[in-house]
Amino acid sequence: MSESTQQALEQAQREGKYIRKVRSFVKREGRLTKGQAAALEKCWPTMGLEHQNGLLDFSQVFGNDNDVVLEIGFGMGKSLVEMAKNAPEQNFIGIEVHRPGVGACLMDADAEGVTNLRVFEHDAVEVLADCISDESLAKVQLFFPDPWHKKRHHKRRIVQPEFVENLRSKLKIGGVFHMATDWQNYAEHMLEVMQGNSHFSNQSSTNDYVPRPDFRPLTKFEQRGHRLGHGVWDLMFERVK
Ligand SMILES: C[S@@+](CC[C@H](N)C(=O)[O-])C[C@H]1O[C@@H](n2cnc3c(N)ncnc32)[C@H](O)[C@@H]1O
Repeated sequence: MSESTQQALEQAQREGKYIRKVRSFVKREGRLTKGQAAALEKCWPTMGLEHQNGLLDFSQVFGNDNDVVLEIGFGMGKSLVEMAKNAPEQNFIGIEVHRPGVGACLMDADAEGVTNLRVFEHDAVEVLADCISDESLAKVQLFFPDPWHKKRHHKRRIVQPEFVENLRSKLKIGGVFHMATDWQNYAEHMLEVMQGNSHFSNQSSTNDYVPRPDFRPLTKFEQRGHRLGHGVWDLMFERVK
């Protein structure tokens, strides 16, 4: 957020005006299944993180100093749990606003015996700003973010210059921002935004997209897309300064 926007917001808040933020999601009121509700009750005390508790101390949260990978908008958490299970030498934090998704993720993590995963049920933009220390993350993952197809909704896309700059400050030097999308117009937008930030270096040998890395699990959704001939674009950018 620019300084003048910030000042205008603070002034409006002091005057008691209601400010409607542009968010990258619409909160859906999905019902929890019994399994999701039970998983939330059972696992939240050990795996849940609260935005209101502020800045995290990763070594305290995980009980070790392993690298931390943060995933934004994990959906039902299938690929996040699989990645956490496959990489016990890393720690994972998932952020999702959709409660049934959070419940599904915890249910899956519990069934798989995954212990290196914590989750937030909150807006990732606010979690990044308020709970994550600067230069603390080894990787940020953003897989299939809501594409907001219509032009008038493009401002709701989470990948924007200001978001990327905030995210950069949370990555360590050498840390990577990995995005994937099945919407070509969004892939092109991501590329343009990332190329506009001189603190990142594109890991693509062709200076655009990278092949899907093996460690990103192929989801059912993506497999279906492949069968239907849809494309998927992966982008990986390293923080170099
Ligand atoms: C199209 S879904 C993709 C889910 C998952 N990554 C996958 O590949 O199946 C996008 C998800 O991002 C979540 N989301 C969007 N904006 C978010 C935000 N600001 N903070 C947290 N989650 C967000 C939505 O609730 C939704 O579940």
